Amino acid sequence: EPTKPVARGAFIVVEGLDRAGKTTQVQKLCNNLYADGHNVKAIRFPDRTSPIGKMIDGYLQRKTEMDDHAIHLLFSANRWEKAAWIKEQISKGYTIVCDRYYYSGMVYSAAKHNPALSLEWARTPDVGLPRPDRVVFLNLDAEEAERRGGYGQEKYEKREMQERVRELFLGLMSKGEEESKDMMLFDAGDSAENVSTAIWAEISKVVGSVEAGSWRDLGS
Ligand code: TMP
Repeated sequence: EPTKPVARGAFIVVEGLDRAGKTTQVQKLCNNLYADGHNVKAIRFPDRTSPIGKMIDGYLQRKTEMDDHAIHLLFSANRWEKAAWIKEQISKGYTIVCDRYYYSGMVYSAAKHNPALSLEWARTPDVGLPRPDRVVFLNLDAEEAERRGGYGQEKYEKREMQERVRELFLGLMSKGEEESKDMMLFDAGDSAENVSTAIWAEISKVVGSVEAGSWRDLGS
């Protein structure tokens, strides 16, 4: 249990393309938070350990095929099954650092260009999930992402898909969309150390305000 009494923990999301350095930055941010005396837990979506997560994993590894809407709803359900736990941890004072969330959910599904699956449709099943206090968006062009060692074998790890995903992420930030209020862009083309320093400058302030009780409620 946390030692310092705080109003609540913060809910921080890290988003971006494959190869943008999310895993490294989540780790560095957690280390910085921990060293600064905060209670912190890292999670990721998809959470491939639950029964729903195993279905998602089979789809991503191309072992099973699924309708675009059906897999979209499974990704969303995978977040809903963790929602109560997230709220509980935050109320106990833990700051949660989360690798991907509904922003990935919306843009990866919408990037498929299925005419029956709009960004608007993709947003709907996630409405009501805990809203992050800040979303760190790691911006990287698809070319640079490929130079970093290429993509793996999973479903969406192809250049043209990644390019559409990036455009849709940037669209979420620039179009006055609801999501843009929480999102902040970081240049992931910079060194991991510089990116981490920039993220810490912002997130340390956010977490401080949240813990002091001078931040909005964790509503939707
Ligand atoms: P990962 O590589 O971070 O484990 O994510 C696996 C893939 O799943 C990645 O290509 C992004 C995609 N994804 C979705 O399509 N919808 C979602 O809701 C989430 C969380 C991830």
